[in-house]
Amino acid sequence: MDRVYIFDTTLRDGEQAPGFSMTTEEKLQMALQLAKLGVDVIEAGFAAASKGDFEAVSLIAKEVKGPVICSLARALEKDIELAGKALECAERKRIHTFIATSEIHMKYKLRMEPEEVLQRAKRAVEYARRFTDDVEFSCEDATRSQREFLYRVIETAIKAGATVINIPDTVGYTVPEEFADLIEGIRNNVPNIDKAIISVHCHDDLGMAVANSLMAVKHGARQVECTINGIGERAGNASLEEIVMALKVRKDFFGNLHTNVNTKELYRTSRLLCRITGSFVQPNKAVVGDNAFAHESGIHQHGVLANPLTYEIMSPDDVGFPSTRIVLGKHSGRHALKSKLREMGFEFSEEDIDRIFEKFKALADKKKEVYEEDIEALVYEEFLKHEEDEPIKVFHYQVQTGDKLLPTATVVLSFRGEERTASSTGNGPVDAIIRAIQKALGIEPKLLDFSIKALTPNTDAQAESRLVIELDGVRASGRGVDVDIIKASVSGFVDALNRAIVRKSYILSKESLRREGTI
Ligand code: KIV
Ligand code: ZN
Repeated sequence: MDRVYIFDTTLRDGEQAPGFSMTTEEKLQMALQLAKLGVDVIEAGFAAASKGDFEAVSLIAKEVKGPVICSLARALEKDIELAGKALECAERKRIHTFIATSEIHMKYKLRMEPEEVLQRAKRAVEYARRFTDDVEFSCEDATRSQREFLYRVIETAIKAGATVINIPDTVGYTVPEEFADLIEGIRNNVPNIDKAIISVHCHDDLGMAVANSLMAVKHGARQVECTINGIGERAGNASLEEIVMALKVRKDFFGNLHTNVNTKELYRTSRLLCRITGSFVQPNKAVVGDNAFAHESGIHQHGVLANPLTYEIMSPDDVGFPSTRIVLGKHSGRHALKSKLREMGFEFSEEDIDRIFEKFKALADKKKEVYEEDIEALVYEEFLKHEEDEPIKVFHYQVQTGDKLLPTATVVLSFRGEERTASSTGNGPVDAIIRAIQKALGIEPKLLDFSIKALTPNTDAQAESRLVIELDGVRASGRGVDVDIIKASVSGFVDALNRAIVRKSYILSKESLRREGTI
């Protein structure tokens, strides 16, 4: 009764957001870490959306043990069938089917009458039950749906066999008191509601996703759908780490309500997602931001030293925030690297660890101290990237600069196997090489954000570039790391371009499937 189930949708709703697309291998790494974190359900993707989504759901279903593995499916037989197929190997599986129930969605998006929607919901749940006993049904845009109709749809879905009823605030429109009232209304007006778990799925358009989810839990919801770092469509979803820590820290308010999450894995999971997507949380992000436990002012520092509870409502240790930085070096062995990788949330086979160890030794020879950030970068650069994710490859470049020289750069690269060369001048060496790359590719993406910083102290530090670009309406972020700042900028820029291009073809393939009526 007091257990709150955590349904993680980082790999589905989260991955859907611009700049957060992940490869199948990256999704698997994330899913393995989510299992370690102790989430109850992993929504691994939307199997019918693309071949890539299908493969990712299948792989996660096969490899990840512990949590229930779930696929999203529209209320269509072909979607549900693909979800069922992708989940075949799962130890425990769930199909999550949905249809919109608000007037605006039914009229303009579905072009369906409410009675048709009701029948579709019924048939979808019944069909999904052929593949698994664990079926979740969502009334999309529930918070803008007419109440009486919503109650009827929920009752029908439960009769048809739904075991979880999800109430999404699809457009992030509701406020805590109103949402609590909706959950109470469902509990009091749907006669068979005791046969299903009430779930909530809140978006953050007005910044209230976490507050709305918590109020729903207080009023009887027992599953929360959320994402790591709050990523998701538009302004994102409710942030998993904030929900979990609020329930833990405010026991005085929430009573015995609790989750099964191992909170010490929260920071690691957040970092892994940042690394994989190249998109980092803001320093003041609750629970996992770099400054979440930093005390700057003298008064605060004095208070915390006297007693941490003066200014800390939770300890960094509770969320696995690193208090000391363990540094590896050229004398560190394979064993030390292996335990460091595990501590950082990466799961690799012995063979893969051998591969990473070789790269680590090469880096340790160049650089005295190897920090966690260096290892993260190395794993990403050397291991998580795949041929098909890199349509652009840089072979060489050359940059000339100086106080009396006009910065000039030349690059030789290939685009989908075709070699190209170009040169350009610029306002500085980085500008010159970025212009040369653009010229070679014949594209001019908008550079929305660009920063470069030293990852660790000392002048031999690795430099890290982070960029956000927009190419043909597709946004993507990129990251590059190297001891040479020009090289770090080049790899960050090319990383962002590759992500934008891969994402663009993924969107195009989805669009053509949609035109064919496949999805
Ligand atoms: O926001 C939403 O309504 C969704 C549903 C598919 C659950 O993501
Ligand atoms: Zn959503």
